[in-house]
Amino acid sequence: MTDHLRTGEQKRRFETEAVHAGEGRSTTDAVANGKSYYPISTPIYASTTFSHPDIETTDRVLGGEQPGFSYARYDNPSVVAFEQAIAVLENPAGGARAFAFASGMAAMHAALAAAELGPDTTVLAAEQLYGSTATLLVQIFGMNGVETRFIDCYDTGVVGKKIRDLKPRAVVIESISNPLLRVADVGRIAEITRSAGAALIVDSTFATPYLQRPLDLGADIVVHSATKYLAGHGDITAGVVVAGPPYDAALEQIRKLVGGTLGPFEAWLAHRGLKTLPLRMNRQCENAREIASRLSEHPKIARVNHPSLADHPDREVAGYVLQDTGGLVSFELDVEEANARQAAFRFLNALELCVRAPSLGDVYTLAIHPATSSHRELSPGRRGRLGVRESLIRLSVGIEHPEDVVGDIEQALEAI
Ligand SMILES: Cc1ncc(COP(=O)(O)O)c(C=O)c1O
Repeated sequence: MTDHLRTGEQKRRFETEAVHAGEGRSTTDAVANGKSYYPISTPIYASTTFSHPDIETTDRVLGGEQPGFSYARYDNPSVVAFEQAIAVLENPAGGARAFAFASGMAAMHAALAAAELGPDTTVLAAEQLYGSTATLLVQIFGMNGVETRFIDCYDTGVVGKKIRDLKPRAVVIESISNPLLRVADVGRIAEITRSAGAALIVDSTFATPYLQRPLDLGADIVVHSATKYLAGHGDITAGVVVAGPPYDAALEQIRKLVGGTLGPFEAWLAHRGLKTLPLRMNRQCENAREIASRLSEHPKIARVNHPSLADHPDREVAGYVLQDTGGLVSFELDVEEANARQAAFRFLNALELCVRAPSLGDVYTLAIHPATSSHRELSPGRRGRLGVRESLIRLSVGIEHPEDVVGDIEQALEAI
């Protein structure tokens, strides 16, 4: 595994920061009921409102002249602890701030709004974007006169040409992508968007800051569904946005006014999950490589998609953009396309260990049929153009022993 101490400014390695960042441990004792205490992990602050010693202090806190908490929709100590940890992991050099939201979609909405998309502005969006993000752009931002054009963002030549032709306000990409696991050359795309004055927004949910740091590569705004790898245990819904000036001020204001702030309990669980991100990701990447390689040799499988494989179209880009090749694998069953849905359903129903569920990034291995889940809203023609066939299965590889996962897949393949 590559050494994650990657920038001159960073004092501690990623693994160390993942455990300690954001835990603003006090050096003076707090006292409750006559006993002093010193919590080593930030408590869950369930209070909706925060009082101060006098109203003058409240006045200064509300006016932004003095740092302090006042109202939980603005922020909350448990949420800030998680946000600080994310900011350190995404942007160790400093300068960017993290904002936690109640879901990945709330985070994406805030990121798009912070890019000041208004009437007559154009957004260039990756064709392979998560379906709800694409629909958010077309339906919700479309109502306000924003035009979204979908492009193949894994071809930087296409990105450059479209940016020159359409002069977009923002470019939205996803890397690693769902479900074919394409990897964008984020650094090269950032150079092009920057020279054109457009904001580059990267949904880095599948990669996490452990595998890729888009801000270091020149992106302006990073978005995660923290529901996935960051929290990692399939037990909360959360999102984060990380950005520096000028977007951070807009994000703070949008969150305050729209109110999609993460709750303290979810923030605490997300922060706890984050501490094991490197351990989980190492195991998930290792398992995914092993599973991808084993499935490539299976007679009932026609094709396997994983950036570690020699025939993956972005293998070379992955080598310089990602620290490792990620924990998702997708594969096509070797069946006629006309019978493919039934075969895919028979396979999924025959799984005994892998969990049938439309999410990813959990400690459990999850399996899903993209054509009827993440890509359900698309027409069959558009799905076909994107390569999302009826025979395609997506696996989000967990931290189990890989032999048990391979064994389960092999026995379920007997059912197709
Ligand atoms: C890549 C990606 N981005 C954003 C989201 C939305 O996240 P959430 O479900 O936390 O709102 C998802 C959800 O699956 C996703 O896969």
